[in-house]
Amino acid sequence: MDLLEYQARELFERFDVPVLPGRTATTPEEARDAYRSLDSGTVVVKAQVRTGGRGKAGGVKLAHSEQEAVDTAAQILDLEIKDHPVNIVMLSPGADIAEEYYFSILLDRASRGYLAMCSVEGGVDIETLAEERPEALAKVELHPVDGITAEVAQRIVTEAGFPEDVHASVGEVLQKLWTVFKESDATLVEVNPLVKTGDGTILALDGKVTLDANADFRHEEWQQYHETTADVDLERQARELDLNYVKLDGSVGVIGNGAGLVMSTLDVVAAAGAELPGSPKPANFLDIGGGASAQVMANGLRIIMSDPQVKSVFVNVFGGITACNDVANGIVHALEMLGDEARLPIIVRLDGNSVDVGKAILEEANHPLITVKNTMDEAARTAAKLASEGN
Ligand SMILES: Nc1ncnc2c1ncn2[C@@H]1O[C@H](COP(=O)(O)OP(=O)(O)OP(=O)(O)O)[C@@H](O)[C@H]1O
Ligand SMILES: [Mg+2]
Repeated sequence: MDLLEYQARELFERFDVPVLPGRTATTPEEARDAYRSLDSGTVVVKAQVRTGGRGKAGGVKLAHSEQEAVDTAAQILDLEIKDHPVNIVMLSPGADIAEEYYFSILLDRASRGYLAMCSVEGGVDIETLAEERPEALAKVELHPVDGITAEVAQRIVTEAGFPEDVHASVGEVLQKLWTVFKESDATLVEVNPLVKTGDGTILALDGKVTLDANADFRHEEWQQYHETTADVDLERQARELDLNYVKLDGSVGVIGNGAGLVMSTLDVVAAAGAELPGSPKPANFLDIGGGASAQVMANGLRIIMSDPQVKSVFVNVFGGITACNDVANGIVHALEMLGDEARLPIIVRLDGNSVDVGKAILEEANHPLITVKNTMDEAARTAAKLASEGN
């Protein structure tokens, strides 16, 4: 579950990480109130969306007066950044930035451990830095229990080549960010930029936090996040319908039966998409399990199609106890139930128990949105191609 920047800021504040004040606004009028309550001549107005590169997209701007802040907020609230409409902006006082650093802690699935990454060259696109000048990005593996002790913090800043005079002050902030990571059951805490101001203060000027949804049960306070997120909104609706759904960031909706099949479907879609313009990726994980009744199929299709990022849907089913004819009937009835709500092409691949009967049912239905493909690869390519063209 990804937090918005202002939520990450609040979390940082709770754990004593130095941050600037921040006020959110959903309308230009609220931005005026926010500007007044900040009582700072220059402010920065920042789009609150769950995607990177906001600055480049015009979603982070300085404003030097009340009227300029209101106008800038209006402008940014009108933006859509990589398919994410901006509904909230955050206003913060303008900082006197002397240096910009990069710092993150993440769950590194490859090494099955926690990893700290740090660079004195922050503020920039970190993926580019990691690719072009990997030596400028220090990577330090963290002990899962001890995390960032004072000693580890010093090792990180030394390896990242920080100037001596900030070792202590940056180190202290890194230790606090570890506390955020650990206490919040996060899988990512990223600060880009972590800055040094003109008077030598270290501040987290941006925050990106991903919480581990598996820890939901022990964080009652996460309820507030569920209420503010469209993504999680879909996940919540899915949960209420008893669907095993996880929202991802791509444009190809995926429905399958069995977690293993769905996971390999995600891989196949990603591979097919990698070769196409816009590199379409899977939009979700959705396992409809064994009994794919029409109702379950309709619920699944409805959830997937209400995700505005989705451009095509791939239904990949292996008939087992539930035979393919039941699944095919499920799809046809689901489309009847959805009526106009079904608005996207659906690529179906059926195999296994009673596959021929299943295919015959779909053929006979002759629904304009349905295309049947014989293999998983073929179906993935078609779905990815349609998503690529639909973008
Ligand atoms: N309070 C502030 N005062 C002055 N400049 C700021 C302030 N906050 C951010 N900036 C400047 O704007 C740049 C971009 O801000 P930020 O890192 O929050 O957005 P971004 O990196 O474009 O977005 P994302 O992190 O989503 O990729 C920073 O690197 C910094 O130079
Ligand atoms: Mg940033």
